[in-house]
Amino acid sequence: MPASQQPPFALANLNGEITPLSEAKIPALDRGFLFGDAVYEVMWVHQGKMWLEEEHFNRLERSLKLIRIQGVNLQTLAARVYETIKAGKFKNAIVYIQITRGAAPRSHAFPKDVKPFEFLFVQEFNDPYAEMRDKGIHLLSRPDIRWDHCDIKSTNLLANVLAIQDSKEAGCQEVLFYLKDGTITESAHSSLFGVLDGILYTSPSSELILPGITRNHLLKLITKEGIPIREKSLNLAQLEEISELFITGTTSGVLPVVTVDKKPIGSSKPGPITRRIEKAYWDSVKIWSQNANHKQDGLGI
Ligand code: PDD
Repeated sequence: MPASQQPPFALANLNGEITPLSEAKIPALDRGFLFGDAVYEVMWVHQGKMWLEEEHFNRLERSLKLIRIQGVNLQTLAARVYETIKAGKFKNAIVYIQITRGAAPRSHAFPKDVKPFEFLFVQEFNDPYAEMRDKGIHLLSRPDIRWDHCDIKSTNLLANVLAIQDSKEAGCQEVLFYLKDGTITESAHSSLFGVLDGILYTSPSSELILPGITRNHLLKLITKEGIPIREKSLNLAQLEEISELFITGTTSGVLPVVTVDKKPIGSSKPGPITRRIEKAYWDSVKIWSQNANHKQDGLGI
């Protein structure tokens, strides 16, 4: 493999056993592989600790409950994440956790007595978003053809993958998903916010969007900042009047959007409200990371 394509350093943890990610093996009959019968989480590790850890584990618990996977001990799982972080001496990293219903002879209905497969990996994070944060990104609008439970962080991501590929081929970095009536939902792997007449809008929490952890964290910061916010979906027809647009996510933080389908958003530059929210976000990370009281022992539980 050419040096430029070397994957970042990563360690996997399969049901508690740590191995290099490149050597991790998934059973061929695993239902996550065969049916997408699985849920996942992506977390950011900053200075060796999981950012918004409780929120991510709460969402994982909810996803597991909604697809009826039982028997996963989330405290054990959190301890495994920290063991893996320690084993790799990770400081700035991404954690990927995937829980599948387990391996069993192929049959659609839930197998009896199957044990969930608990897979995670921790991977060095070399932030690819710096330039995008500075200049802003471009979105491609795509019909939201996902299912009726986008609130579950399921590994069934084919619609997202195809939409992102379309956006990449169009020279964009993300997608703006819309429903048949023009309602804007979110992006393919990010939440979406827009400013209209000085008011910030984001889709309400419902089965149409993933309850983004960054989104929910920002809602609190935005309220504290005194910026008017409404949890109400925007519509494609309003795009021309929207003065600012930005997306949010665990790995990207806050990313300004400067065009949709090659048409400018506002002045086609990252706007002042976006910049204010971005600053509030990074300030909150700083305050958290300086907080001497949080999870000193690196065991996070
Ligand atoms: N994506 N909406 C969708 C559809 C997502 O897949 C994500 C996250 C978000 C943002 O959620 P959060 O703030 O909790 O990261 C919104 C992850 C990072 C991924 O699939 O890689």
